[in-house]
Amino acid sequence: MSGTNIFRTARGENKIFRDEAVLLPDYLPGELPGREREVKELVYCLQPASEGKQPEHALLYGPPGTGKTTCARYVLKQLSEYSSRPLPIYINCWETPSRFSILSEIANALGEMLPRRGIAADEILVRVFEIAKKDGRIPIVVLDEADRLEASDDGAQILYDLCRAGELHSLFTAVIAITNDEEFHARLDARVRSSFVQHAYKFAPYSVPQLKEILQQRAQKAFFEGALDSEVVPLCAAVAVKRGGEHALGRNSPDSSSRTSGPLVGTPTSRPPAAAGGDARVAFALLRAAGKAAERENASRVEVAHVRATQEEALATSGSKVERKLPALDELDKKIVAAVKDAGDKGIESGKLYASLKRLSGDRALRQRVDRLEKTGILETESVQSGQGRSRLIKIKTQI
Ligand SMILES: Nc1ncnc2c1ncn2[C@@H]1O[C@H](COP(=O)(O)OP(=O)(O)OP(=O)(O)O)[C@@H](O)[C@H]1O
Ligand SMILES: [Mg+2]
Repeated sequence: MSGTNIFRTARGENKIFRDEAVLLPDYLPGELPGREREVKELVYCLQPASEGKQPEHALLYGPPGTGKTTCARYVLKQLSEYSSRPLPIYINCWETPSRFSILSEIANALGEMLPRRGIAADEILVRVFEIAKKDGRIPIVVLDEADRLEASDDGAQILYDLCRAGELHSLFTAVIAITNDEEFHARLDARVRSSFVQHAYKFAPYSVPQLKEILQQRAQKAFFEGALDSEVVPLCAAVAVKRGGEHALGRNSPDSSSRTSGPLVGTPTSRPPAAAGGDARVAFALLRAAGKAAERENASRVEVAHVRATQEEALATSGSKVERKLPALDELDKKIVAAVKDAGDKGIESGKLYASLKRLSGDRALRQRVDRLEKTGILETESVQSGQGRSRLIKIKTQI
């Protein structure tokens, strides 16, 4: 054996990645190609907070990987660099789904701890709002994956609390609610819905040219010069868009993939067709997987063949909301999802599902769980004829 450390040798040979971390999903880019208009709208909503005035609430909705979370994080970062009046608070409702836990997060952001027990939620609300008023800053609360609020008994109440805080408690605050669910706003309490109606922005899936631009910009940071064949980025963009199109076609006829940001008109009563188009998260996963493959075989650049060789696996692990959200579910939810998954594409009838899980919980509780998992976009159900009556067929929801 020679004296050179094997790890040093491996590191020294890396000719591919300059900075692989910029391809990871949590990386916050300095620019958002294709989302200039959405960023501008959010700036318009939040600008008043920097002047000590009431900002506007906003709802961002659209399919996965369309840049909703990134836009909100980007605007909040810029806002807090610009002014110290607004207090940005980011909450992922998968992790923090109840009224109490969200109020606790807001209190924490204000530097206070809430007692865990012994106070009614309404009293806590008043307390948190008093703290906020005394603090003099304007909480800008991002409620990401806001449809998850419907899964806890009083979760949706927090939207009412925050949207009416100005009117009922003289507290300036803004809510930016984010969801994949196009019908989310239609299910909201009318008073909450009216808070979002002026500023509801639909994030359409990206087109191939848009994804190419997004990837190209990030690739310059991620890869060494000359380490990427010029066909790689276009291929990743095309595969991501094709995949989005397949999902949309599997569920519904594809939309025109038009970019229709703007105020909502009326209240949709049926689910609009899923739009065909690209998920940027998937495109980045393809690019990163190809880069890793090239690095592993010690190639001097990433070629189209690397994308082809890794695309199935990258697609399988990056796309599904179910897989990404599974860690946030509790044990019973996970068991339900696993049982439905085991049944495969054809789904499982509710009676059969409840029977298989009766050791763990009663029918009523299981039914409620299934309802919640459906509302939060993990399962989907349809009514089917079964024996004498009707029953529900439960399936894993494919990409939203
Ligand atoms: N316009 C853009 N410019 C640069 N990067 C982008 C853009 N849009 C999305 N991305 C990148 O794509 C990935 C997915 O974006 P993001 O997480 O914001 O999607 P999302 O709409 O919130 O998806 P989901 O509904 O699944 O939560 C992130 O890594 C993000 O950095
Ligand atoms: Mg998101």
